[in-house]
Amino acid sequence: MFLSPRWIALLLATLITSITLAFLSFVPEVSMGMLFVAGISCFGCSFFFTFYTIDILVFREVNLIYKSIQKLKIQDFHIPRKSLLKSVNPLKKLNREISNYVSRKQEEIEELKRMELFRREFLADVSHELKTPIFAAQGFVHTLLDGAKDDPVVATRFLKKAAKSLDGLDALVRDLVVLTQVESGDLKMQFEEVDLLQITEEIIEQLEEKAKKRETKIVIKPKNLEECRVIADYQRITQVMTNFIDNAIKYGKDKGKVEIEFEEDKKSFTISIEDNGPGIPQEHLYRIFERFYRVDKSRSRETGGTGLGLAIVKHILNAHETGINVTSKVDKGTRFTFKLPKAEKEIH
Ligand SMILES: Nc1ncnc2c1ncn2[C@@H]1O[C@H](COP(=O)(O)OP(=O)(O)OP(=O)(O)O)[C@@H](O)[C@H]1O
Ligand SMILES: [Mg+2]
Repeated sequence: MFLSPRWIALLLATLITSITLAFLSFVPEVSMGMLFVAGISCFGCSFFFTFYTIDILVFREVNLIYKSIQKLKIQDFHIPRKSLLKSVNPLKKLNREISNYVSRKQEEIEELKRMELFRREFLADVSHELKTPIFAAQGFVHTLLDGAKDDPVVATRFLKKAAKSLDGLDALVRDLVVLTQVESGDLKMQFEEVDLLQITEEIIEQLEEKAKKRETKIVIKPKNLEECRVIADYQRITQVMTNFIDNAIKYGKDKGKVEIEFEEDKKSFTISIEDNGPGIPQEHLYRIFERFYRVDKSRSRETGGTGLGLAIVKHILNAHETGINVTSKVDKGTRFTFKLPKAEKEIH
């Protein structure tokens, strides 16, 4: 307000008038009346010229900038011209607005570039992952057609292998669908009260066969825990626990041990899944939640993993507004931990 064109003109006009009057007062012939008329006319002219010079200059500059903005067809640019003329330093203000706008656009461009790169990498990964089981199944079917079908024993073996590849393909596509849904926010969570202990026991039962094959011992801690009532999406949290326990068996050691611990706090349960397997080297640890990331590529493929499990788990737990903590020591084991809010106890 202080340095608006009007105030600058007023200040300058006062200054010019004072100097003129000071000089004129030294001339003996100049009367008071003449001084008065000279003062008034000097003030008026100085004020008028200064004010309009600043105004016209600013106006012209602003107009020029506006024209270039319009040329760039920047529609979401709203600075009222009046406010610019009235403001302390309109050019500075306009400049600031443009810089803000440009940096905003720059950020948007960076984000789009990142998304584009991500999309390209994702497509490359997906095609690569799809190729493996398709080629394998294709190979088995062609071998069968080329004559292997005539030997029932060989035919059965090849058909079993083809079926295994197609099962892997099915698991991959299903995981991809879920991942796309969670990432795009299409998968709506249905939070309800669930008993995570019961869910865990059911998962252990389902994975019993797998654990038996590796002679893995699965224990729940504390032993006397009766229930673990938390707020979660039943189906999704089942998927989370399944992946953690399945990983612990798959990537743990033979005759290993998997411990699932439920730690009760005032408002939450801390759940941890720990194995005493070969562990994950430090340099891989921060990448295991990336899609398709596998520490030991050949071993993970052997065990049939798609490498999408932990990426999905991370998204699901994020949707539950909780994070995952992972600690691992090579040859000692791995421990995944996350927290869930406790369901309020009903008061009768
Ligand atoms: N408990 C663990 N011990 C050692 N390595 C692990 C453990 N859990 C996960 N990993 C490593 O992290 C990688 C990613 O795990 P993730 O669950 O995402 O994929 P996956 O189990 O291979 O496939 P999917 O879960 O889709 O069947 C695994 O390939 C494995 O190398
Ligand atoms: Mg997994």
